[in-house]
Amino acid sequence: MSLVSWKWGGVVVLAVASAGAYAADVPGGLEIAKSNACMGCHAVDRKLVGPSFQQIAGKYKGDAQAPAKLAVKVRDGGSGVWGAIPMPSHPRMSDADIRTVVAWVLAGAPGK
Ligand code: HEC
Repeated sequence: MSLVSWKWGGVVVLAVASAGAYAADVPGGLEIAKSNACMGCHAVDRKLVGPSFQQIAGKYKGDAQAPAKLAVKVRDGGSGVWGAIPMPSHPRMSDADIRTVVAWVLAGAPGK
């Protein structure tokens, strides 16, 4: 019995560790954000025109729908979640770039 629960513990620890590794390692996110002028309206740790990327990461922490939802928001733009100022659309960004930058934002925008 104790062996079984130890194994369960091992599984949980492993799952947490790999999620952490994923969150800390989103290569290219910062570069994509810079090259698409995201940083003109967003900063990593303070509000500019839009919410800080760390605020966004905090709001959607644990939300499994967030990557898909926010990818659509980056592509199509929109307002009303954080205030009346709209987030512009980015129709020319590739899906891959959008996915990467959203994953980076949700990871708390590491490596600024
Ligand atoms: C012209 C200013 C501006 C630019 C440029 C901009 N944003 Fe935003 N962004 C905003 C504003 C304002 C909001 C808040 C929108 C709202 O309240 O719904 C926002 C919200 C967001 C959100 C959260 C959306 C939500 O529904 O919670 C994400 C993620 C985001 N921006 C990512 C990006 C990325 C990535 C880029 C670059 C590709 C970018 N933004 C460029 C102004 C901007």
